Amino acid sequence: MQSHRIRSPEVDRNVPRRAVDPTLRSGAATNVALRGLSRIAAFLAGTTGVLWRERPDACRDCRAEPAGNPSSLVAESAGPDAAAAPEETAALIRHILERYHEAHRREVPELIRLARRVEAAHRDHPDAPLGLAGLLSRVESEMEQHLQKEELGLFPMILEGHADLAPAIAIMRDDHDDHSLRLRQIEALTHDFTPPGNACKTWRALYAGTRKLADDLTAHIDLENHVLFPRFVG
Ligand SMILES: [Fe+2]
Ligand SMILES: [Fe+2]
Repeated sequence: MQSHRIRSPEVDRNVPRRAVDPTLRSGAATNVALRGLSRIAAFLAGTTGVLWRERPDACRDCRAEPAGNPSSLVAESAGPDAAAAPEETAALIRHILERYHEAHRREVPELIRLARRVEAAHRDHPDAPLGLAGLLSRVESEMEQHLQKEELGLFPMILEGHADLAPAIAIMRDDHDDHSLRLRQIEALTHDFTPPGNACKTWRALYAGTRKLADDLTAHIDLENHVLFPRFVG
């Protein structure tokens, strides 16, 4: 699934340190720019490296701007930061909850909203992702059930030191397989998250956000399947 790894624009790290110095004459303009970046990052929350590029192709059909209100956009994510995951089990679980569970819950509803708009506005386009909103809604529903199983069941059992976690972990692994299948369906429907050349900014935002969801969910699953769970099953 990591084949669609996206480039890391490293927006935050590339902001020159002196550019945020309020003593500089350019400070006010820089702060405006930084506030703009914050609003943009809020659209794809959980991503530290989001870059929007100006594009001239407004869409008369989609009308309103995507959340974050960039004039036009292409979004890129710094990608999953599995390497930053802490080693200690309680800290790792906290990281999973904050970095992935919260991000999924924030982002999927917005993607469903964008998908509905794109499907309605571009239903006659040969590449229109008809059915994407339904697929994302299914992801949202299945994922919410799974997240609650972990948050209310498996993770507390791990932290309380339960002896036999194998049955619960087997259920989580099955759920992960279902999530991965759903992501493959979304990849196929969106041509690996590639909008057509004449796609409007809403369509591009939808695919960029959906790609980020796929990256995040894949990293989330990998972290649990290959780092967390093996500590508790033979
Ligand atoms: Fe999880
Ligand atoms: Fe999980």
